[in-house]
Amino acid sequence: VPIIDVSGSHGEPNPEAMALFRQCLRAVVESVSPAEPAAPHGVEILRTALAAQLDDVPDRIVVTCGIRAAVPVLAPLLPQLAVEVPSFEDIPALAGSLGCVVERVPWPTMTLDDSRAIWLTHPSRNPDGACLPPETAEGLSHRRRPAVVNEVYRWHSSAHLVPVTGNVVAVGSLAKVWGPAARLGWIRGDTVAELSKAALRISSPPPLVQHAWAAFIDRNGLDLLRRDAEAAAASCRRFSDLVGCDLLAAPRDGPSALLPLPGQLSADEALRRLARLGVKATAGRHFGVRYESLRLTFIGVSSSDAEIVAQACRALFT
Ligand SMILES: Cc1ncc(COP(=O)(O)O)c(C=O)c1O
Repeated sequence: VPIIDVSGSHGEPNPEAMALFRQCLRAVVESVSPAEPAAPHGVEILRTALAAQLDDVPDRIVVTCGIRAAVPVLAPLLPQLAVEVPSFEDIPALAGSLGCVVERVPWPTMTLDDSRAIWLTHPSRNPDGACLPPETAEGLSHRRRPAVVNEVYRWHSSAHLVPVTGNVVAVGSLAKVWGPAARLGWIRGDTVAELSKAALRISSPPPLVQHAWAAFIDRNGLDLLRRDAEAAAASCRRFSDLVGCDLLAAPRDGPSALLPLPGQLSADEALRRLARLGVKATAGRHFGVRYESLRLTFIGVSSSDAEIVAQACRALFT
């Protein structure tokens, strides 16, 4: 049986985007000196290209190697940190290893407590696709302590975005639209000018690579990636409609869905049963979920494959 992989292993970006990036790399190798250093905040034309895409201004953006690379840069601002649960578990692990005192806190509790910094993912949180209610998103700007918002799924969702003002800092990455090899991301907000230059130096890609991404974005490369992001979200919606939204953790949007399992069924047994039907998924526990559950993600998965996955998942409930 051919395997449908909804476990989160990112395939290659679409061929058109790959060809464009290769062209951009070749062009910058000829036009930019590999010995040219960049400012710690990033190559200016990339900051400008990103600003245009993110509806922001270059001075409020610094270039990083991605979401995880932002953690050591922001850690000094986050001595006491509430990290959302469930979530992408590398974040609390990294923050803890850098000396932040980390506690895992579910959303409504974390956003109501302003006694320490918070880290959350919006829109379309991994693993359950949850989005903040609009009034909570707006309210983050009034916090006294930093609120770090992971916007890695901004192109997979039509949900409102968090206004990045006051103590809100947004962190982003191309990891979910290009794949983990992109190693390109950003931090944006009012306070980026004050970030440690030394930390930025260890968290940013080489200038030549930054030039290549700037050329890619200027030549509308992100439009090609955005199309795939929208297709992933559409496949996830198809899955959700067929499996039944009442079975899923709600409310949700974007490429990922979390499926709580019926009483006696363990995640490991459910994964075995899905594997026999040609579906590869992941246990929710890898994202801090404390009940037996599966996380499915539809990046690179067609709508017709999403229908097969839904059928296989429904069979777990019979
Ligand atoms: C919510 C979330 N943010 C970020 C990442 C990774 O981003 P980066 O590779 O830019 O650190 C992941 C990875 O799988 C993720 O699930």
